[in-house]
Amino acid sequence: MSHVPVKFAYWVPNVSGGLVVSTIEQRTHWGIDYNRKLAQLAEQAGFDYALTQIRFTAGYGAEYQHESVAFSHALLAATERLKVIAAILPGPWNPALAAKQLATIDQLTNGRVAINLVSGWFKGEFHGIGEPWLDHDERYRRSEEFIRALKGIWTQDSFSFAGDFYRFRNYTLKPKPLQQPHPEIFQGGSSRAARDMAARVSDWYFTNGNTPEGIRAQVEDLRAKAAANGHSIKVGVNAFVIARDTEAEARAVLDEIIAKANPEAVQAFGHEARNAGAASPEGEGNWAKSSFEDLVQYNDGFKTNLIGTPEQIAERIVALKAVGVDLVLAGFLHFQEEVEYFGRRVLPLVRELEARAAAQAAA
Ligand SMILES: Cc1cc2nc3c(=O)[nH]c(=O)nc-3n(C[C@H](O)[C@H](O)[C@H](O)COP(=O)(O)O)c2cc1C
Repeated sequence: MSHVPVKFAYWVPNVSGGLVVSTIEQRTHWGIDYNRKLAQLAEQAGFDYALTQIRFTAGYGAEYQHESVAFSHALLAATERLKVIAAILPGPWNPALAAKQLATIDQLTNGRVAINLVSGWFKGEFHGIGEPWLDHDERYRRSEEFIRALKGIWTQDSFSFAGDFYRFRNYTLKPKPLQQPHPEIFQGGSSRAARDMAARVSDWYFTNGNTPEGIRAQVEDLRAKAAANGHSIKVGVNAFVIARDTEAEARAVLDEIIAKANPEAVQAFGHEARNAGAASPEGEGNWAKSSFEDLVQYNDGFKTNLIGTPEQIAERIVALKAVGVDLVLAGFLHFQEEVEYFGRRVLPLVRELEARAAAQAAA
């Protein structure tokens, strides 16, 4: 097991309705005041990263959405150490704009911005904003060119690139980002195309929630492919965390979230999401195998099972680390309260277990 402490990120609730498609009470707000305070609490609690979401259009209870890059900058301006991952969607963004915009943010925030290059899963959204909807694997081909262009612009002068989607000729960006060699590049996915791209160009691979066995299979494939490419890649896994003083309390919260799920909204989301998942030619994409209960959380976060007491959750996090996970991306019901609780009750236990494992390995 790696001696590097596992890292923690939280989902920024910059989209209304939180992270579960349920009418359960959520003491969370998508606005900036709530989110600034949350980012400060998360930084104090020991979180390393915050991940903002990109969404252009309402649907499934996600009525309002603040734009990801602008929102990320606002959170960076309100914090000191936290890194904020801004989501970038090829189509609406092109690499020239993204490279320039993020280099400036990196300069303004002492090198704390990162990006999540999302490839798109929501056909209705693309139609809504007049963007062509590419086939699943074509979306990844475009994303890979996007990342190659971004890295080229960020690291080279007089950069030239002749792709099928993007072209650059003797282009020099100044100033370059502060972070060297460049801000970290995250991407999400579960499909073969997502793993193949990650194993060639990304720094981090985010995957939907899953069991340790399910994650192990993805990680082994990913790391084998990356090694063959002479590339190294880190892995983050999504989890919807419900940490309570007793397991019964935590389970009751999960039961209530599911009992109060909004069936029409879950079905509608599931329809789009399953289409997107099944759209990968091999049928392994995100959501290809998700049940109704799984779909109540947008990224299969119940499957990771970080639901229980602080002790149970800490042990499961270390078990995830043992199958190759480098980062846990956490969603919560009541973000401010639960981020604080997580920092106070769960994180110290994870560090204890990590120290114990390191001591055992040394002995
Ligand atoms: C942690 C994580 C965060 C994501 N964030 C966004 C997002 O903010 N906006 C978006 O449109 N898609 C987002 N996605 C979707 C992915 O970019 C990708 O389109 C989706 O996972 C389908 O991939 P697959 O078919 O390769 O499995 C996210 C995925 C993951 C795993």
